[in-house]
Amino acid sequence: MREYKNLKKNILTSIDKIFQSGTLLFGDELKKFEKNFCIFNKSKYGLGVSNGTDALFIALKCLNIGKGDEVITVSNTAIPTAAAIINAGASIKFTDIGKDYLIDVNKISTLINKKTKAIIPVHLFGQTCDMNKILNIAKKYKLKVIEDCAQSTGAMYKGKKAGTLGDIGCHSFYPTKILGAYGDGGFLTTNNKKLYEKMHRFRFYGIDTLGTNKKWKNKYYSIEHGINSRLNEIQSSILNLKLKKINFFIERRRSIAKKYFNGLKNLNIELPLVNKNNFHVFHIFEVAHKKRDRIIKKMKERNVNLSIHYPYPIHKMRGYKNFIKKNSNHLHETEKKSKMIFSLPIYPSLRDNEIKAIINNLKEIISKF
Ligand SMILES: Cc1ncc(COP(=O)(O)O)c(C=O)c1O
Repeated sequence: MREYKNLKKNILTSIDKIFQSGTLLFGDELKKFEKNFCIFNKSKYGLGVSNGTDALFIALKCLNIGKGDEVITVSNTAIPTAAAIINAGASIKFTDIGKDYLIDVNKISTLINKKTKAIIPVHLFGQTCDMNKILNIAKKYKLKVIEDCAQSTGAMYKGKKAGTLGDIGCHSFYPTKILGAYGDGGFLTTNNKKLYEKMHRFRFYGIDTLGTNKKWKNKYYSIEHGINSRLNEIQSSILNLKLKKINFFIERRRSIAKKYFNGLKNLNIELPLVNKNNFHVFHIFEVAHKKRDRIIKKMKERNVNLSIHYPYPIHKMRGYKNFIKKNSNHLHETEKKSKMIFSLPIYPSLRDNEIKAIINNLKEIISKF
């Protein structure tokens, strides 16, 4: 891991300090990270949890969304978005995506009925959905908005950080994410104090460790049902170190994206659409081509591994199709794109010569079609 080489000394010093202290959970590193990640996002409140899937689940549960309720989201997302909704006991209604691979806001209203309780816009690939339109719909129909920011930590919509526009923002620190831990990690942001307190209890079996109500400040007494979802001290300490560099990580990703845009602009390949009002952090650089599978094969022969995000829309998967409400929208664009999309390598430690080689290989392969 290239990144580790640079951070090794600091990471090991920090971990050693934690081991010496004997506090492995709910210690100073988590407190520090929660404070600084909230400052970074300009969010009033925030709490670390075990992973991004838990963050979504906790958000849904603490907004009282469950059995009999419906949640609107997209099928072109990572499985966890759907898994969290099902785990909460609710049903999913999928809507199609637009040319930017994000929720098609013009199709949301047709899915709303009395059972609809929330919209989960997924800020996929590192850019934000059209939040003004989503918030207007949510206001009109009294729906909650949970932002899935797993791929868009640091992205901005009209200058505001992803996750601070809706009721709750859910982040993931999966190792390859914009802010990656060295293991699992997740986070919830909110500007609502009561909601924060509730989520804080929920992540720890419903125990009021904040002492919101003095009567219940006892770590062996639960005041409501909850789960165990902790961001441990080791991951928090690594995240504290990496948070100092997050703007550098994002700038490097943006500069790699710029090189791809310039290098591939005259090629017959669909490049990502970057929305107005949006600061894109390029978690993933998704492109599309009808001969996607051939391109991937040829690139592999040249030792370049390309991924697909995502080859199977969730409504097509055996594990999920039975949970999907029948009257979801037709998902034409989602299905069409799933057969064409693939992603180019993008991460801060990718070297300029490697980017050049990827561009040149793609040019050679595609120009022969
Ligand atoms: C869009 C999206 N939502 C949710 C998650 C869940 O995050 P985690 O892997 O931390 O549980 C991920 C990451 O895998 C993701 O990409």
